[in-house]
Amino acid sequence: MKQAKMHIEKNFKLAEVDKRIYSSFLEHLGRAIYTGIYEPGHPAADENGFRRDVLELIRELNVSHVRYPGGNFLSGYSWKDGVGPKEDRPRRLDLAWHTIESNQFGIDEFVDWSKKSGTEIMGAVNMGTGTPKEAGELLEYCNYPGGTYWSDLRAKNGHKDPHNIKLWCIGNEMDGSWQICHLDADDYGKKALETAKIMKWIDPEVELVVCGSATTLQETFPEWDRKVLEYTYEKADYLSLHRYYENEGSDFDFLASFVDMDRFINTIAGTADYVKALKRSDKTMYLSFDEWNVWYQHNQKEHDWMEAPEILEDRYSLLDALVFSGMGMTLINHADRVKIACLAQLVNVIAPIFTEKNGRVMKQTIFYPFQYLSTYGRGMALKPVVVAPTAESRYGETPLLHSSVVFDEEKKQVNVFCLNLSDDEMELDLDMRSFGKLSMIEHLELSGPDLNAVNTFDQPDTVTMKAVENLSGSFEACKMVLPKYSWHVLRFQCEE
Ligand code: AHR
Repeated sequence: MKQAKMHIEKNFKLAEVDKRIYSSFLEHLGRAIYTGIYEPGHPAADENGFRRDVLELIRELNVSHVRYPGGNFLSGYSWKDGVGPKEDRPRRLDLAWHTIESNQFGIDEFVDWSKKSGTEIMGAVNMGTGTPKEAGELLEYCNYPGGTYWSDLRAKNGHKDPHNIKLWCIGNEMDGSWQICHLDADDYGKKALETAKIMKWIDPEVELVVCGSATTLQETFPEWDRKVLEYTYEKADYLSLHRYYENEGSDFDFLASFVDMDRFINTIAGTADYVKALKRSDKTMYLSFDEWNVWYQHNQKEHDWMEAPEILEDRYSLLDALVFSGMGMTLINHADRVKIACLAQLVNVIAPIFTEKNGRVMKQTIFYPFQYLSTYGRGMALKPVVVAPTAESRYGETPLLHSSVVFDEEKKQVNVFCLNLSDDEMELDLDMRSFGKLSMIEHLELSGPDLNAVNTFDQPDTVTMKAVENLSGSFEACKMVLPKYSWHVLRFQCEE
């Protein structure tokens, strides 16, 4: 049996966790919108055509913001196609995903949907085929109170009150050659700066995210980030990061994905701090990890000009959910720098929620780590001292115990998340004496029959969170055994 120790000290504070790290993403892609969240005629659809069964699961996830409408789709999207009477909206080719966009769902529908889902919006403006002028017009449509052409059009379209969307992405993955009208860093930096100026003139309260590297695998990483920040440092509020992982060989390498993600965040934070020094600026550039997940990109299929086809409908296993939990904990461990993070995506497309057209809805395995991190990972992120065995993965020396700790100071609850990524049981010794006496509220384990287990519509609860017997009594330290390949939520109540 392996041995690991965690010393959790309540004064070793990292930063308050920003609730926006529990955000997600809905793109006009595949069945995310159409037959995902929006399906008029479905037995569970409400008067707007929004699926109530899906809304219910989204509420369970405690999602903060939802990024919309893309993604790669964004770079060819004209937002004006998606407003006004539905019968007048044009059907268009979507060049990003080779599909047909009916435009039956647009920004006004998304605002209505967000209210029902209890989420806020992270908007996005097109920096591919789109211009800074069109970005300004969208913001005027959404946020300007009234008395101008675009704000009055919003009122005419049924929304007298402004949408008040205060968080916006300036483009998506503009460093990627796959992007419609991809730009190099200088051209994007200049365009993003001019767009940011227009947007902040229209609404000085908006916060803006500029495109960072689409992945660490880009040849231009991290030079792209440096150059973009050199143009936009004064106007941008966040720099974006995107990263997906898939199982490309050994399960252990896959489980170690969080090591790479951690390094990515450190590299980009260092790059941003370099520009801060160069600019003699007092401002710290915060990070928006606005696409992260497990994604089997190599399984992608071609689709020819269909409406809402089944694209990127990955089915997640227990192993995928363990990898996912590692990434989620890494975001908490960077609470001082990462202020926004979006699980990409939310419904059907590489998603925790999966629907049948005209049928059922279910929770994929990754639903659970997101739900529990988002529910109990709020408060002050602490910096535990962890002593654990390590092993060599493709990312170098990798700890076999990965963890994060959040202290909810109001409720006086300590929530410990931990992943045993070894193929052996691990005895975990928790020293929490700085909190005084504690008792255990609950111990939950992400569990399934084997690492390949998945949830299906017929067997939706194959992989779920299972309660483990609580440690009894009150204590300042405790021990427990974590089975091989397992993720845990350990919750403690301070007694004093
Ligand atoms: O989330 C799927 C795609 O991944 C997004 O459209 C794009 O931004 C990224 O490459």
